[in-house]
Amino acid sequence: MAHGNGAAPLIEAIGLQKRYGATLAVKGVDLAVYPGEIVGFLGPNGAGKTTTIKMLTGLLRPSAGTARIGGFDIQREPLQAKALLGYVPDQPYLPDKLTAREYIQLIAGLYRLDPRQAAQRGEELLHLFGLAERGDELLGSYSHGMRQKAVVIGALLHDPRAFFLDEPTVGLDPRSARLIKDMLRQVANQGTAVLMSTHILEIAERMCDRVIIINAGVIVAAGTLEELRAGGQASLEDIFLTLTGGAEAAAIAEALR
Ligand SMILES: Nc1ncnc2c1ncn2[C@@H]1O[C@H](COP(=O)(O)OP(=O)(O)OP(=O)(O)O)[C@@H](O)[C@H]1O
Ligand SMILES: [Mg+2]
Repeated sequence: MAHGNGAAPLIEAIGLQKRYGATLAVKGVDLAVYPGEIVGFLGPNGAGKTTTIKMLTGLLRPSAGTARIGGFDIQREPLQAKALLGYVPDQPYLPDKLTAREYIQLIAGLYRLDPRQAAQRGEELLHLFGLAERGDELLGSYSHGMRQKAVVIGALLHDPRAFFLDEPTVGLDPRSARLIKDMLRQVANQGTAVLMSTHILEIAERMCDRVIIINAGVIVAAGTLEELRAGGQASLEDIFLTLTGGAEAAAIAEALR
């Protein structure tokens, strides 16, 4: 196992809570992702996935608890922590008036990367995602999937050690989803920790070494699929429905079959 060798976690949440007004949306989340792991973050709509990821990446201040990236507290040591992380948000922003190559230059500047190395890494990524020939076109003219890839390229440019993706495969064709899968494995093989939220159980099943299931702001299960299945349930879907929705959700799923 990736974390059997005693390595320290690259992504760590300790008692993370987030309160929105009177509502406690995230109720004390503990999780850890280790070098080389791809972890799926699963849960129904409104469970707290995006809120947790935003606290881990420093975009939201936790109401309580600690988030650490590579051992650095994201609130107290934000510069060190943020230098190590890459983030693909659920609703990514792209500057439509820039071309993909100009966007790469922009990100390189923001991270103060060596311009030549960043350009080379950018070209590698453009080729990997099949965008090299369209790298001089405006991002505003890109299709949804192409935009998604451009966001991923931007998030990977500085070689993050901790990589977060919030619903990265929504709206992607099967080939692009496969590309993301292969790309994540490549990134993980270089020792990066990957935490990816998804609704699509099949994706978690195919892409992830481990899953963490959150429901109503509480982690209800964590482990490898084998470990979760040891409870006697065959498919991840059954496990997911049982742990999150209970009988009601299972009945809806059954009715839709
Ligand atoms: N800015 C906000 N103000 C108030 N409540 C919020 C805010 N953002 C999220 N919430 C609430 O917090 C809870 C968790 O939301 P969150 O977006 O983290 O869920 P999620 O698991 O990412 O859901 P989805 O699968 O739909 O993306 C929800 O009840 C949501 O309504
Ligand atoms: Mg979300």
